[in-house]
Amino acid sequence: MAPPGPAGALPAPAEPLSRSIFRKFLLMLCSLLTSLYVFYCLAERCQTLSGPVVGLSGGGEEAGDPGRGVLAGGPRELEMWPAAAQRKRLLQLQQWRRRRPPAPHDDGNEAVWEEETPGLAGGPGGSGAGSSVAEAPPGTLELLLDEGSKQLPQAIIIGVKKGGTRALLEFLRVHPDVRAVGAEPHFFDRSYDKGLAWYRDLMPRTLEGQITMEKTPSYFVTREAPARISAMSKDTKLIVVVRDPVTRAISDYTQTLSKRPDIPTFESLTFKNRSTGLIDTSWSAIQIGIYAKHLEHWLRHFPIGQMLFVSGERLISDPAGELGRVQDFLGLKRIITDKHFYFNKTKGFPCLKKAEGSSKPHCLGKTKGRPHPEIDREVVRRLREFYRPFNLKFYQMTGHDFGWDG
Ligand code: A3P
Repeated sequence: MAPPGPAGALPAPAEPLSRSIFRKFLLMLCSLLTSLYVFYCLAERCQTLSGPVVGLSGGGEEAGDPGRGVLAGGPRELEMWPAAAQRKRLLQLQQWRRRRPPAPHDDGNEAVWEEETPGLAGGPGGSGAGSSVAEAPPGTLELLLDEGSKQLPQAIIIGVKKGGTRALLEFLRVHPDVRAVGAEPHFFDRSYDKGLAWYRDLMPRTLEGQITMEKTPSYFVTREAPARISAMSKDTKLIVVVRDPVTRAISDYTQTLSKRPDIPTFESLTFKNRSTGLIDTSWSAIQIGIYAKHLEHWLRHFPIGQMLFVSGERLISDPAGELGRVQDFLGLKRIITDKHFYFNKTKGFPCLKKAEGSSKPHCLGKTKGRPHPEIDREVVRRLREFYRPFNLKFYQMTGHDFGWDG
C-alpha cells in the first residue's frame, strides 16, 4: 500500500477554506496599504500648497500671520518646519524651471547660478525632494509654479569684500523665510542704468512673509550706492560683515594672486614708499579696510539702527551666535541655531549640516577659506598701526569693539 502524500495528510475540504481566508487577508492588507498611501499623498499635497498651512498639531496660533506665524512656538515649530521648507523648495524648483534672468556679474571666483538650485541640478547630487512636484497630478504643477512674486530686496549684504559675506548668505538661506539671489547682482555699482525692473527680475520669487535678499560686497565702498539704495527704499536693511582690515587686505590679495600669480608681492604693493613707510591708500586692498570712512557715506542716507555689523571673526568662531543677531535684526524667528553647524576639521571652518534644500552637509567652496601667504611681520605691524585710528573711529560709530586692536 502506498503511503499517503502530503496532500493526503489534510482533510480534503480544509484546503480551499484556508486559501480563501488567506486571499481575503491579502486583499485587506492591500486595501489598507493603498488607503495609507492615498492618505500620505494627500497629506504631502496639503503641505506643499501655499497660503495658511493647515495646523498639523491642532490649535490656531498662526492664523493671523500665515507666512511667518506658522513657524512660531515650541514643538509646533518642529512640526511646521518641513511645510515651510517644502514651500521654499517649490519656489526654488519654479525658479529653476523658468528661463534664467540676464546673468548678473559675479566677483570672478564664486556666485554661480547653481547655488540657486542646490540638489536640483539633476543627477546624483539631487536630494530628490523635488519629487513631489514631479508626481503632482496635472494642473498642480502650473498652480505651484505661479506661486509667489519677485520683490525688490528688503535686506542687502552690502559688504565687505572678503569679510565672510558668502558664508553669511549661505547660512541665512537655510531659513525658510529667506530667499536670496545666489550670484552677486552688482546692480547699485555696475548696472544701475538697467533700472529697478531689471534688478527685480533677478530676484527669486517669494511668498508673503518671506524676505528677499542679495549680497554684493562692493556696495559698501561705492560712493553712489547709499543714495541709490535709499532711493529704492529708505527702509532697506543693510548688513555689513566686517573683518580685521589687515587680514582682510591679505585675503583680498590672496584672491587676486590666485587669478594672477605674476602680481608684485603684498609687501611692495602696500607702500607708496617702503623706506618712508608711507602706505598706498589708493590700493583697493588697503582702501576697503578704512571702514569708518566708507561708513560715513552710508550714515548720510541711513540711520545706524538700520545697519547691522556682523563680525567676520565670530562668524567663524560662533556662526550660530552671529546668525542669531542677524535673524533678530531681520525680524525673523531664530530658526538657524548651533544645530545647523558642524566644524569641518579638513576645511578648518564651520559648515552646514544640511545646505538649503538639501540633506547633505555643505562647506563653502575652495575659494573660501584659502591659506594666506606669509607676510613680512614688520609690514603687518605697520599696517596695524595705520588702521588703528580708523578702527577706533569705527568702534565708536557702531558702538561695538570688534577687537582687532586688542
Ligand atoms: P579667506 O579665504 O581669506 O580665508 P567673502 O565671502 O566675503 O569673499 O569672504 C571670504 C572669507 O570668508 C574667507 O576668507 C573666510 O575666511 C571667510 N569665512 C567665514 N566663514 C567661512 C566658512 N564657514 N567657510 C569658509 N570661509 C569662511
